[in-house]
Amino acid sequence: MFTRLVSLLVVYIISTRDLSHCCQVKQFAGKDSFVCVCNEAYCDSIVTEPNSLPDHLTIFQSDAASHRFSKSIISFNELLLDSDALVDVHIKVNGTDRKQQIFGFGGSFTDSAGINIKKLPAKLVDQLIENYFSETKGLGYTYGRVPIAASDFSQRYYTYAEVADDFELKHFKLAHEDTLYKIPLIKKALSVSKDLRLISAPWAPPSWLKTSHRPKGLGILQDDPGSKYWKTYANYIVKFLETYVQHGIHFWGVSPQNEPSTGLMPNWPLNTCGFSGHMMRDYIKKDLGPALKKAGFGKDKVKLMIWDDQLLDIMPFIRVILEDKEAAEYVSGVAYHWYSRLSLGNWTRAERYATDIIEGLNHWSTGWVDWNLALDESGGPNWVNNFIDSMVIVNNTSPEYYKQPMYYVFGHFSRFLRPGSTRLGHSIIKNNAENEVKLTV
Ligand SMILES: *[C@@H]1O[C@H](CO)[C@@H](O)[C@H](O)[C@H]1NC(C)=O
Ligand SMILES: *[C@@H]1O[C@H](CO)[C@@H](O)[C@H](O)[C@H]1NC(C)=O
Ligand SMILES: *[C@@H]1O[C@H](CO)[C@@H](O)[C@H](O)[C@H]1NC(C)=O
Repeated sequence: MFTRLVSLLVVYIISTRDLSHCCQVKQFAGKDSFVCVCNEAYCDSIVTEPNSLPDHLTIFQSDAASHRFSKSIISFNELLLDSDALVDVHIKVNGTDRKQQIFGFGGSFTDSAGINIKKLPAKLVDQLIENYFSETKGLGYTYGRVPIAASDFSQRYYTYAEVADDFELKHFKLAHEDTLYKIPLIKKALSVSKDLRLISAPWAPPSWLKTSHRPKGLGILQDDPGSKYWKTYANYIVKFLETYVQHGIHFWGVSPQNEPSTGLMPNWPLNTCGFSGHMMRDYIKKDLGPALKKAGFGKDKVKLMIWDDQLLDIMPFIRVILEDKEAAEYVSGVAYHWYSRLSLGNWTRAERYATDIIEGLNHWSTGWVDWNLALDESGGPNWVNNFIDSMVIVNNTSPEYYKQPMYYVFGHFSRFLRPGSTRLGHSIIKNNAENEVKLTV
């Protein structure tokens, strides 16, 4: 057993900097930081090679003022010389206190991401894929989320089974969004990140399965769990998984429903379907669980992740499912959400994002999948105008895109907390400056 004292340097790094991977800075009025511009002439990359000097540390630093993964090298001697002046935070790491293993970090292959990325010249598309998925030059993503049919980040509402009362799903068909945007983009990502694991989720079933007969607003599946309506929604998910397999794409996981709580709210503005914890429990054990298993997508092949919604209200919902032995048998894990409005060059935003990720990790989260891989200058397109932020914003009119502060801050997790690494127990034993804990991952 050993306990080690790790000292964290925050601001006083004066050693040589490696400037070869610098950000091409663009500032926006009223923002506390900047974005990095990528165009055909230039794009920065994230290179995190450690130094080969004995007794030296390599430090990668990003901050509001000027740095994006700036590398500095410092010797242990320098570190010890004047540690009180240098060190803001002491973290005591307990090497024998092993917590969860990291699963991975990633982003989402929405229609909108595909639409924005497809607007770019071919060279920039490859560049952007590398920015995200390369383990040596980008964020090293190993995880991705794919909506089943339309999410709100689509240009229109659609499902794959629009023919009413087609309970056998004879008319099930992928949309042009799949063949034009999602599938080609996923394949490009797979060519860079071989171990990419994908999770999918439907936003809404075909409307003829719902009480409301429409995608938005208050509405649940007709009839009861175990009925043909519920079975058809389960089979719809199975069909999706099977059809993607035909395109060479195998999913690691699926969630039964994106944001199930929203379909229980009157006037919810985007495509959804409501489930309470009890409804979800019965749907999983009577319909979805058996359907997945029968089709060869049992737990050993495809992980069923429940909740997939905002953190608020998570406990009562998942408890009902996980306390039921039969339903829990089909479930592999729990997923939860985070969002914000578009704000270019906002460092505060990035720090909040990091704080939430750390908080999640400290409470046994095993990874984080960011939302749209790329959005446009208004935070869309979104068919219900639910515009939000993204790590990458593509310019609508010129062939360039912007890497937000969030992109780099997320990289401090995804590049260093590789899949299979283990979180160790720690305690903070001194904390002079405010905010520093955020930088300690
Ligand atoms: C380190 O963690 C182990 C395992 O949890 C625990 O038994 C031990 O007491 C911890 N050591 C210290 C110094 O906190
Ligand atoms: C930056 O992001 C923070 C956190 O999301 C937000 O509160 C703030 O309004 C944003 N600032 C600007 C200038 O948009
Ligand atoms: C996008 O490019 C146009 C043309 O160069 C420029 O005027 C505009 O400011 C850019 N948008 C952003 C968000 O920087």
